[in-house]
Amino acid sequence: MHQIIAMSYPFQIKSFDQYLAAYKKSVEDPEGFWSEIAADFFWRKKWDKVLEWNFKEPKIEWFKGAKLNITENCLDRHLEKNANTPAIIWESNDPEEHHRVLTYRELYNKVCQFAHVLKNNGVVKGDRVCIYMGMIPELAIAVLACARAGAIHSVVFGGFSAQSIADRLQDAKAEYIITCDGAFRGNKEIQLKNVIDDALVQCPFVKKVIVVTRTRTPVSMIKGRDVWWEDEIKKVETQGSNDFKAEEMDAEDMLFILYTSGSTGKPKGVVHTCGGYMIYTAYTFVNVFQYQPGDIHFCTADIGWITGHSYILYGPLSAGATTLMFEGIPTWPDAGRFWNIVDKYKVSILYTAPTAIRSLMGFGLDVVKDHDLRSLKVLGTVGEPINEEAWNWYHENIGKGQCPVVDTWWQTETAGVLISNLAGVTPAKPTYATLPMPGIQPVLVDENGKTVPGTDAARDGVYTSESISSPAGGSLEGAGNLCIKFPWPGMLRTTYGDHERCRLNYFSTYENLYFTGDGCLRDKNGNYRITGRVDDVLNVSGHRIGTAEVENAINMHAGVVESAVVGYPHDIKGQGIYAFVIYPSLHNEPSLSRQDITLTVSRIIGPIAKPDKIQFVSGLPKTRSGKIMRRILRKIAEGETDNLGDVTTLLDPSVVEEIKNGKI
Ligand code: WT7
Repeated sequence: MHQIIAMSYPFQIKSFDQYLAAYKKSVEDPEGFWSEIAADFFWRKKWDKVLEWNFKEPKIEWFKGAKLNITENCLDRHLEKNANTPAIIWESNDPEEHHRVLTYRELYNKVCQFAHVLKNNGVVKGDRVCIYMGMIPELAIAVLACARAGAIHSVVFGGFSAQSIADRLQDAKAEYIITCDGAFRGNKEIQLKNVIDDALVQCPFVKKVIVVTRTRTPVSMIKGRDVWWEDEIKKVETQGSNDFKAEEMDAEDMLFILYTSGSTGKPKGVVHTCGGYMIYTAYTFVNVFQYQPGDIHFCTADIGWITGHSYILYGPLSAGATTLMFEGIPTWPDAGRFWNIVDKYKVSILYTAPTAIRSLMGFGLDVVKDHDLRSLKVLGTVGEPINEEAWNWYHENIGKGQCPVVDTWWQTETAGVLISNLAGVTPAKPTYATLPMPGIQPVLVDENGKTVPGTDAARDGVYTSESISSPAGGSLEGAGNLCIKFPWPGMLRTTYGDHERCRLNYFSTYENLYFTGDGCLRDKNGNYRITGRVDDVLNVSGHRIGTAEVENAINMHAGVVESAVVGYPHDIKGQGIYAFVIYPSLHNEPSLSRQDITLTVSRIIGPIAKPDKIQFVSGLPKTRSGKIMRRILRKIAEGETDNLGDVTTLLDPSVVEEIKNGKI
């Protein structure tokens, strides 16, 4: 075993009292609070001002004027003492294939090399680089090399379609792409390069595509545009250039764009900047999971989502941690895959989604019982509300009743965890994300934006004395829409290319508040429980999908007149997608098949947005002004057909009967 020299985390909270003190300080003196934390990072130049903000425009600037490169914090500063510590452990999709370990030194070298490749191919500071890859170490290297070269990465999850990629390339005006020939996912092989080729038909502005070899599936390479990763690395090796001097970035320069769905039309490009993102992901990583040097951190997300950005890469690496990256899926070759990995690497922290837990629960305890699992210290969940049954199963059967479970609530827009217990430090309460992180000021408001009394953490306190004596106690105190009152370093700055959209989406619903889109309860002890989206956004297996986006995709099919999409409760996915589709009334039978619809959605968005249920209807419940009454459709999809509420304002109430009778 290599020697681990403890990197210390002066900002790691070790007791409930320390949490309370940190919270208090963060509210009374946010600038002092965050600048003390920031002092623990490597800056080439210190900031001029800690914070400048208003939620009206919005304008949010943290540590402006400070100069840094996030990769110097994630890589260079660990080289002196921890060069031989594993930075990334990679486990293949194929359990037979040998795993890979990249120490901090090796990762540093590879990132520098690839940063040279980017430069040789014309990438300069500020360029947008789209990354569409499977979960192989080269994905981590590509992301970090972009950051090192000052390029803005936009990672697109490998399950998105050519059309989705084209939309994102156009929106970000990305001229460079990094991809793989293909990717392995369970027993499937995904043709990533082919998908890119399809997307590029619509994107003639793309100058270079760098292709990594993974599956050896035949691909077509276009001369002058497409180059092989391996060839480009060889060129750098023969140039003998090893180190790559990191580009100097302002704290407020863009680090990356990550597209996410909203309640309207096309996904928006959430923008995060270098300084604040770094501090917030590192701070939350070290505190929520209580990482200790030597721990193996296993976050099962894909780097294509924010969870992977923040808690596979940037958070752990900036803390000098060992992060485990897994290429495969939880159920292949069998449902014991996670548990094998935990035992194989002696994983300390396991961070996954409720949907994965629920699906693994379904395979029974036989696949769990042969595993030791005693290396585990902390369990985490993210992405959607966790039901009590799944929470208990995870706690008892995976954590053997010994590991704190952290239920972490956050969003693509927030960069890192906003509400969660701190493992073993603050009390857990099943189905509750519990308390806000220091620096986070949640408040619940009613429809008119009025604060629900007793729900404002900064004003009403993050706990009552009762929460210390009976952590699991408390009764309902208030319910409302979850907003955040004050900026934190990791919050989104804008939506790429359209600041007004950012304002409208997050800052215009309630004055002077960031609106999360989530509904929430707060108990008497100050614990928050997120109940789900209150907008037209679905959460399917922890993935955010806009209903309007799915409708647009369905409507692309020539045979579809109109459609309406709603969510319904789904045992494993949390929410399923229910599509009501109008077919041309010329014939009495739908001229379409359900497969026509799912194929269309797959092609336009990607397989993750495929409807679980499709009902063909001859009309939709609309108001006289033509608005679809989704409330009614939602109730029908949920199976609550007896209590549909007032239908008298409908243009044609009879359509409701027809839909009710045709429910699947
Ligand atoms: C939405 C954000 C955060 C990374 C993964 C998803 C829901 C997230 C929880 C949780 C209840 C949760 C919310 C949120 N959500 N975590 N612990 N409990 N709901 O990121 O795609 O940006 O989605 O996921 O509804 O708004 P995302």
